Amino acid sequence: MAQFTLANHVVRLASEIDFVGWRDAARRLATNDISPQDVAWQVEIDAGSRDNDLPACRADARLVVPRDFIERAETAICHADPERLSLLYRLLWRLRDEPKLLSIATDPDIRRLEAMEKAVRRDIHKMRAFVRFRKIGQGADERYVAWFEPEHFIVERNADFFVRRFTGMRWTIMTPNASADWDGERLAIGPGAEKRDAPDEDGAEALWRTYFENIFNPARLKVKAMQKEMPKKYWRNLPEASLIPHLIAGADKAASAMIARMPTTPAPHHAKLQAKHWPAPQPGDAGETESADTIPELRDLAKGCHRCPLWRDATQTVFGEGPENADVVFVGEQPGDQEDLAGKPFVGPAGKVFDSILDEADIARHKVYVTNAVKHFKFEPRGKRRIHSKPNAGEIQACRWWLDKELGLIKPNLVVALGATAAQSLLGKAVPITKMRGDVIEREDGVRVFLTIHPSFILRIREQEDKEAERERFLKDMRKVRELMGA
Ligand code: URA
Repeated sequence: MAQFTLANHVVRLASEIDFVGWRDAARRLATNDISPQDVAWQVEIDAGSRDNDLPACRADARLVVPRDFIERAETAICHADPERLSLLYRLLWRLRDEPKLLSIATDPDIRRLEAMEKAVRRDIHKMRAFVRFRKIGQGADERYVAWFEPEHFIVERNADFFVRRFTGMRWTIMTPNASADWDGERLAIGPGAEKRDAPDEDGAEALWRTYFENIFNPARLKVKAMQKEMPKKYWRNLPEASLIPHLIAGADKAASAMIARMPTTPAPHHAKLQAKHWPAPQPGDAGETESADTIPELRDLAKGCHRCPLWRDATQTVFGEGPENADVVFVGEQPGDQEDLAGKPFVGPAGKVFDSILDEADIARHKVYVTNAVKHFKFEPRGKRRIHSKPNAGEIQACRWWLDKELGLIKPNLVVALGATAAQSLLGKAVPITKMRGDVIEREDGVRVFLTIHPSFILRIREQEDKEAERERFLKDMRKVRELMGA
């Protein structure tokens, strides 16, 4: 990508995402007061050793670079715009005299940086969502190959994600600029490929199509939103995409048929379950007067809890689950609709997100104890649906009695507060979770409380790339929990 330039200094980087090379050159340039106009940035992949002929860093020159800038630059360098290298150096140059520059959202350079980061994150997310592997070879030669066309230079940055997700498979992802290959033990990043190098069809295509046909819900079809999420340019490499026009065309009819099949009376199994889990408790048998020496005994007592009015409408008490000698206790807010029916914590949509992230963080759910700050489902009926309603301070306080008993019996090494309600219950006061996330607070009784968000927060985020970013942050928190568990 050599370009004609009148600049006094030409920096040649060894690859499009040679951040180490960029940083080294930028330091040398900035400490020698070489202004951005005097520098041209080039990428010369085949140039062999990089001889940039730049002056060495000046030891007497002070260059303070905010950490935040380095992290953001590492993302932005993956953008395909050739101007990104000079933009990043211009920002570094300006930061010397404008230390607050990164927080000036209206600055054109900052706006450009933000737009680049966003585009890279979005591309990373799209690659995670739309890579489709095709099987080649049999037995010991079996491997999975995918062709993908990213907009930016994201293959290397995304490769670890695929290693974690598909550790047990041997796979290669080919793209026009780079390829990633995992042989089950070692990740190798290689040169780009051509579409014809990747296989076209395999048996898994049919499986994808069936899967897609089944998850397609005509009543929720929003063509614009769907095309935003799965832009047309990705369709050509997605086996299920050939179904989309046909499914959209038939959506109206299918939706009417679905509505016609919907039940017209409240689900009878709710009432049945409720009857099974009562008899309704009588005043005086809220549990305080009886003692329990084990978690199963405590769980039995809690069945009759009426410490607050929530028991009246809920199906049953949803008590904590997990080994009595667990190292760590996770505390959620309150059971949701599915937990209320199943009688188990975290088995619904938030539970599924929670489980998959725990799994990725190498925390075995069956080895930890999972419970809620409030043990009954609080909801508002809306038509036939029961809509989650946040427990109030009185309900949290009333139910804290059970949580304290659980912690007293289990004596965990660490308690993880999933969200604001759990934190309020565990710390006895409201705390700003987004600010304090990742902190460990030691209570007066010695219990260590790790603060993080509730997994349902991830579910509520609409923008896919923001959702993915939040999932990664939560995964990071869970990895920290994993480290703290044994400490
Ligand atoms: N949300 C919670 O806080 N707890 C559950 O058990 C399920 C969803």
